Amino acid sequence: MKDLAHLFRNNRAWTANILAKDPFFFDRLSRQQSPKYLWIGCSDSRVPANEIVGLLPGELFVHRNVANIVVQTDLNCLSVIQYAVEVLHVEHIIVTGHYGCGGVQAAFHGLRLGLIDDWLRHVEDIMRKHAAALSMIPDETKALNRLCELNVIQQAVNVGETTIVRQAWERGEVLTVHGWIYDLNDGLLRDLEISASSREELSSTYMRALTASR
Ligand code: CO
Repeated sequence: MKDLAHLFRNNRAWTANILAKDPFFFDRLSRQQSPKYLWIGCSDSRVPANEIVGLLPGELFVHRNVANIVVQTDLNCLSVIQYAVEVLHVEHIIVTGHYGCGGVQAAFHGLRLGLIDDWLRHVEDIMRKHAAALSMIPDETKALNRLCELNVIQQAVNVGETTIVRQAWERGEVLTVHGWIYDLNDGLLRDLEISASSREELSSTYMRALTASR
C-alpha cells in the first residue's frame, strides 16, 4: 500500500479540485447517474474515455476491452449495452478505436502472446474479410491504420446487430450507433461516418464507410 500512497494523494487532490469548482458535485452524483452516451473503447491506457471528450464523471457510461471488440457471446459487453439502452436510456453508443492499437497490431502480425490471441481472433477475422482491400495498401503502417478503422466499423455494426439495439430500434427509440477513431499522435478524434439510427441506415452507412478513402 505504501508504494501506492501517491495514488491516494492524487485522489484527494482530485476531489479537492472538483469541489472547489462545484461544492455539490459528489452529493448530486451519488444520488444518480444519467449519462447520454455509452462509450465502447480500447483498454489502452493512452485513450482515457471521458478525458478526451471533456466529460465529467456521470456523463459517460463506459465499457473497455482490448481492441474495443463487440461480440454477441460476450456477456460482459452485452450486459453493459443492455443496461445502458434499457435502464439508462442512453441516446448514443460510440465505438471508439485508436490508431496504433496493440491488439490490432498483434492480430495483424500474428503475434503469439497467450490467451489474448484467442480474443484477437475476432480482429484476425476482420483482416481476412478485408484481405483484398488491405493488400492494396503498400505501406504497412497505413494498412495497419486501415485495419484499426475497419475494426471500429465492424464493431459498430456488431453493436447494431445485437438483439438489444435491434429491439430498441423496433420500439422506435432514439438511439444512434457511431464509429470513431482516436489518433494517439495528435489527440484528435475522427468520425468514421458510420453513424446510424436504424438497421437500414446502418447497412448503407456501412457500405459507404468501407469505400470511403481517407
Ligand atoms: Co488498443
